[in-house]
Amino acid sequence: MKNILFISALSVFLYAQPTFESSETCKSCHPTIYKEFQSTQHAKASIFDDEIHAAVWKKHPKNTKMSSYACAKCHTPAASNYDDLVGKHNNIRPDATDSTQREGISCAYCHRIESIKPGKMSNTNVIAKEGKSYFGSLKSHIESPFHKIKTDSKHFNSGNVCVGCHSHKKNKYDINVCSTNIDNELDGANCVSCHMPKVKGSVSTLNETKEHAFHGFPGTHSHQDMLTQYVELFLKESIKTFEITINNKSSHALTLHPMRTMQLQVKVIRGSKEIKLAHKNFARIIGVNGKGTPPWLAKVIVEDTAVKANEKRVVVYDYVLKKGDKVEVTIGYYLVNPKMLKSLDLEKSEVATKFHHFKTELFEIK
Ligand code: HEC
Ligand code: HEC
Ligand code: HEC
Ligand code: HEC
Ligand code: HEC
Repeated sequence: MKNILFISALSVFLYAQPTFESSETCKSCHPTIYKEFQSTQHAKASIFDDEIHAAVWKKHPKNTKMSSYACAKCHTPAASNYDDLVGKHNNIRPDATDSTQREGISCAYCHRIESIKPGKMSNTNVIAKEGKSYFGSLKSHIESPFHKIKTDSKHFNSGNVCVGCHSHKKNKYDINVCSTNIDNELDGANCVSCHMPKVKGSVSTLNETKEHAFHGFPGTHSHQDMLTQYVELFLKESIKTFEITINNKSSHALTLHPMRTMQLQVKVIRGSKEIKLAHKNFARIIGVNGKGTPPWLAKVIVEDTAVKANEKRVVVYDYVLKKGDKVEVTIGYYLVNPKMLKSLDLEKSEVATKFHHFKTELFEIK
């Protein structure tokens, strides 16, 4: 009995929240990767650097009822006061002057993810206890004078390391708010091959390599051009109509976050005339009683027209094309569904209101 008491007292004593080297520390030896990373949503995931996240947090019941900043689990996991931030009803709010919160999903945090614990509401990252020792997937490497290297290719070059935060997020009504991987059906699907392609530039300044894995994480905010190859657009004419096909070659739905709206815009150019056809919107809307609500109130999927993983979506236009016509087809999206802007006080936000262009194809009718 004495022993048990002693051991449990000791383990409480020994428990220490992990601390992480700042991303700035990596800059001297990994300048290329550091520069790419700085522009990403991972580096800007805190409420102080992402105005859309901040706007939703402002309205969130956990904020208005002064409960925990539970978002820290995925948005500021490297915070030095992480346990306090996610602790319940303690009045601790995110702090703009705390540099560890401004780190977002930092280099050292991601590179210390050892394994993923599956969960019903969301998964959880298991962080390796040993600090300054980073997982990677290089086939061969020199030693680093600053940190240890642990090679774990299966975990790091497959995208398994991403699904701790990106797999799924449910609300208390069992509604899947957002997922790339709700039933773990993507075992082996490779987030990294699409979102971290190999690009020119050395891994470090100490050992010249030709290429490295791109750390700019192309997505809906930036570097969209690196992803357009996974979404194809086709046109097929009939006598009285024509069809546009959106071929989604990615392993998840397009614009998968529930705040987004994807838009298909079609313009017929006939001689000097331009005829704009009605825009088509695609979105997954969650809510109650047939109406969209914030994610924490949603009990059903109200509407789901989002283009699914590996789907070929065909959209028919009742319009007769003529020889010589040119048809300009564009897809893009609004990061925040225009219908939600007012309730989130985001009407003046440029990033939230602007149409983000994704891809345009021009078809000539022969
Ligand atoms: C289980 C992990 C997880 C938790 C917990 C989490 N998020 Fe997120 N959040 C994500 C991921 C992953 C994305 C990126 C998804 C995407 O772009 O499709 C994201 C993106 C967002 C966005 C879109 C940001 C933008 O710039 O477009 C908002 C808003 C957001 N989260 C709000 C919240 C709020 C508020 C909380 C806490 C109440 C929270 N999230 C908790 C994982 C999480
Ligand atoms: C003093 C220089 C130096 C600093 C500072 C440094 N690294 Fe490295 N790192 C290296 C070298 C050298 C390698 C090996 C590169 C090679 O073999 O081409 C490396 C490799 C890596 C790898 C690849 C492991 C693999 O095998 O795939 C990761 C991950 C990594 N570093 C993360 C970090 C992070 C995160 C930081 C900041 C917290 C950091 N490094 C800071 C020198 C450094
Ligand atoms: C610690 C949690 C976490 C991990 C691990 C993580 N992400 Fe994220 N990711 C997020 C959050 C949170 C956001 C949204 C941040 C925001 O916009 O505020 C995000 C955003 C993104 C985006 C959208 C970027 C954009 O421009 O819209 C992409 C793409 C992405 N992550 C890919 C990945 C990949 C690939 C991996 C694995 C190598 C990964 N993420 C690992 C939490 C995580
Ligand atoms: C969201 C998770 C995530 C973040 C944040 C992240 N990395 Fe990585 N990093 C990875 C993954 C996954 C790989 C493996 C890519 C592969 O195998 O193709 C990788 C690979 C590397 C490598 C090996 C080089 C290569 O080309 O494969 C180095 C070095 C590295 N990262 C350093 C950093 C540094 C420095 C930062 C911050 C400036 C950083 N990483 C931020 C996930 C991350
Ligand atoms: C075959 C390529 C491919 C694979 C594999 C892939 N993605 Fe994507 N991803 C895309 C494309 C294309 C987009 C841009 C279109 C869009 O906005 O949805 C995208 C967008 C995203 C976004 C931004 C969505 C938004 O609404 O902000 C996130 C987050 C993301 N991917 C995460 C992941 C994760 C995590 C995995 C692995 C589980 C993954 N992706 C696997 C191609 C891919």
